[in-house]
Amino acid sequence: MPSFKRSFNKTALALATSLAASFTLSTAQAAEVEVLHWWTSGGEARAANVLKELMEAEGYGWEDFAVAGGGGETAMTVLKSRAMSGNPPSAAQIKGPEIQEWGELGLLGELDEVAEAEGWDELLPPTVAEIMRHDGSYVAVPVNVHRVNWLWANPEVLEAAGVEMPTTLDELFTAGEAIREAGYIPLAHGGQAWQDATVFETVLLATGGTEFYQQTMVELDEEALGSEQMIEALETFKRLRELMDDDMSGRDWNIATSMVINGDAGMQLMGDWAKGEFTAAGLTAGEDYLCAAAPGTQDAFTFNIDSLAMFRVEGEEREAQHALARLVLEPTFQEAFNLAKGSIPARPDLDMGEFDQCAQRSMEDFQRTADEGGLVPSMAHGMAVRADVQGAIFDVVTNYFNSRDMAAEEAARRMVNAAQAAL
Ligand code: BGC
Repeated sequence: MPSFKRSFNKTALALATSLAASFTLSTAQAAEVEVLHWWTSGGEARAANVLKELMEAEGYGWEDFAVAGGGGETAMTVLKSRAMSGNPPSAAQIKGPEIQEWGELGLLGELDEVAEAEGWDELLPPTVAEIMRHDGSYVAVPVNVHRVNWLWANPEVLEAAGVEMPTTLDELFTAGEAIREAGYIPLAHGGQAWQDATVFETVLLATGGTEFYQQTMVELDEEALGSEQMIEALETFKRLRELMDDDMSGRDWNIATSMVINGDAGMQLMGDWAKGEFTAAGLTAGEDYLCAAAPGTQDAFTFNIDSLAMFRVEGEEREAQHALARLVLEPTFQEAFNLAKGSIPARPDLDMGEFDQCAQRSMEDFQRTADEGGLVPSMAHGMAVRADVQGAIFDVVTNYFNSRDMAAEEAARRMVNAAQAAL
């Protein structure tokens, strides 16, 4: 019965094809997470890739939602429009008080089951855990702890200029002059609002100390914001322009780091994501490049904790999202990611043997300042105040830094206004 045979064959073929199709479909449709972040420089991308590979090794798909732009301002704008259209990613790099803002909108999903199974309460320092919770539930997971108040330097340039790593702001200015005379750019900088603010908060910490930093950048105390001490911090900050080059406008932070790497510039004031660039270039801390607490801030630690906040998602995506959250706090990820990223692990119980001297120093200083005082949240990196206040402070800082005629007194007055608008 050829016709039966033919039709049987046809049915078998159709079945086989549909089985094959559903097989490819099911592999292609492995539960997937979409992760928004702004880790796009050489060192950052290497770090982000660690998470992608760990997820893929567990059979999950990774959809990369990378939005370039240091400090993450553009990424946050893109995230808002995605969330407003009702289609947020599974996870996004959201930090500090902004986690609370997203939580209040009811858009974040809780991770308590994972947190409990993995013992996050015992693993995380209470300061870190608190930032990750909204309404008592974990809604975010920390990937690292970055220190913002660092100075990076090229030892060959310092040697050519006959100077040592500066430990005070006065020494920084003196070393800078010598570096310029030796024919190099003293301080590599990128003229972008968040980079200006990064340098500003470090100078404020150096000139005013941690208590003044706390009053101005965290508590937004109007008297402190308008004080003589603030005026002095602003003036010192502006003097740093003398150590920068004329082409800094709009330059990305990692290009500034590469100027130190290449020996065009002597130093850079930047958080330790800069170390990710030195590492990606194959350089060794203490030999090919130097790190030290930013001049005048040895007793302080400005922290910036990167974290992935989880959006409310359903079904398979939620399962993948929970796997992501679990992986992030596991030792394998914490070590590999932070070695590439330049930061230290978010959990203090890990062996730091594989880390370089800058990271070991960072871990010690983090714990010491947490115990003895001196640990402060970074305003420039979204750890201290709400995003709208941060934006208003950025405007004042960057306008003042770039203005030819705005006096420091006027900038201090504008700081007070920025704080008043926030209340
Ligand atoms: C983030 C870092 C990032 C840096 C430069 C900071 O705000 O916390 O993870 O490397 O910006 O983009």
